[in-house]
Amino acid sequence: MRTIVEVKNGINWVGAVDWRVRDFHGYSTYKGTTYNAFLILDEKITLFDTVKKPFKNDLLHNLLKVVDPSKIDYLVVNHVEPDHSGSLPEMMEIIKPEKLFCSARGKKALIDHYHREDWPYEVVKTGDELSLGKRTVQFIETRMIHWPDSMFSYVKEDALLIASDAFGQHWATSERFNDQVDASELMNHAAKYYSNILTLYSPLIQKLLQSVLEMGLKLDVICPDHGLIWRDNPMQIVEAYDRWSRQVPSSKAVVVYDTMWESTRTMALAIADGLIESGVSTKVMDLSVDHRSDVMTEVLDAKAIILGSPTLNNTLLPRMADFLCYMGGLRPANKIGAAFGSYGWSGESVRLINNALEDMKIEVIDPGVRLQYVPEHAGLRKCVELGRKAAQAVKQAT
Ligand code: FEO
Repeated sequence: MRTIVEVKNGINWVGAVDWRVRDFHGYSTYKGTTYNAFLILDEKITLFDTVKKPFKNDLLHNLLKVVDPSKIDYLVVNHVEPDHSGSLPEMMEIIKPEKLFCSARGKKALIDHYHREDWPYEVVKTGDELSLGKRTVQFIETRMIHWPDSMFSYVKEDALLIASDAFGQHWATSERFNDQVDASELMNHAAKYYSNILTLYSPLIQKLLQSVLEMGLKLDVICPDHGLIWRDNPMQIVEAYDRWSRQVPSSKAVVVYDTMWESTRTMALAIADGLIESGVSTKVMDLSVDHRSDVMTEVLDAKAIILGSPTLNNTLLPRMADFLCYMGGLRPANKIGAAFGSYGWSGESVRLINNALEDMKIEVIDPGVRLQYVPEHAGLRKCVELGRKAAQAVKQAT
């Protein structure tokens, strides 16, 4: 989309909307995303972040609506990942800024990506301030949210936070502000974004929120680098991050499975019966139709993760192996788990899932249920019992 939007007087959104992207390093972006960049018109004209490389012309087009790009004085790189810096080399040639501000790790990452030692780097750290004329920008390093180089830029006079990857959503829209879209869909996108990008960094997010609280920053507007800008009650997303990063589970279970000839699916449904009849909210997710990133969104507030796979060639079905690898990287905390699966003759899948759960520090509450070939009544009763047992553990813990 090539339409600039004024966020506050003299502060413009000049980014790009990507309506087509459907995969974001393993995360399903069914509704696209945006790459947000912001231009402040002041005595020193300053561009905060750029966009993914194929969207360079969108950014340029937007800039040209308000300023001759060669008149931009400063460029701030809050985050080096290529969805925000991919067009930087070309923009540096066009803008030729007097200074390029980034964190120390940002400078290193920029050199490692673009191999340009000659750019006019100005390394900043938490607490450093930059005067643009009428406005002052304060930098806050936010290491690992989402990369070691990440930082926030806070515009003091406008109480406006340019928050890089934090508080974002992958959602392509023509609207730019949170009060212009459906609130519950927005929060669902924000939760999916948190679960799939930031869960691993939850302890750091807790510390960051604490230090931002101690700094006493007033927040009128939060501008993430993806998705909608939070101008109506921006604290709602800060409060959601506080909740999500504490990883306090609710009375909820997710039963996730893949199946070969329907036996493991039948087991999954029997386990879900045991959970549901015990009063635990339960999601049943089939990895052949539910994307790993949608499963992780449900895992965010679940207490129990019950995983099932048949045994294929002495190991797991590939989609379950994929999911375990993905969830293991995100390392959700405060969960309990169990495994189940049908098998023909060797039956390693339950042990392999249990091992993976233990590696993730998820408490395995039961040795699991293995049933040969097609489950019959007695086998399914064991599955219902596993569901009931998981339900008791969920209730005790929530
Ligand atoms: Fe949106 Fe970590 O980049």
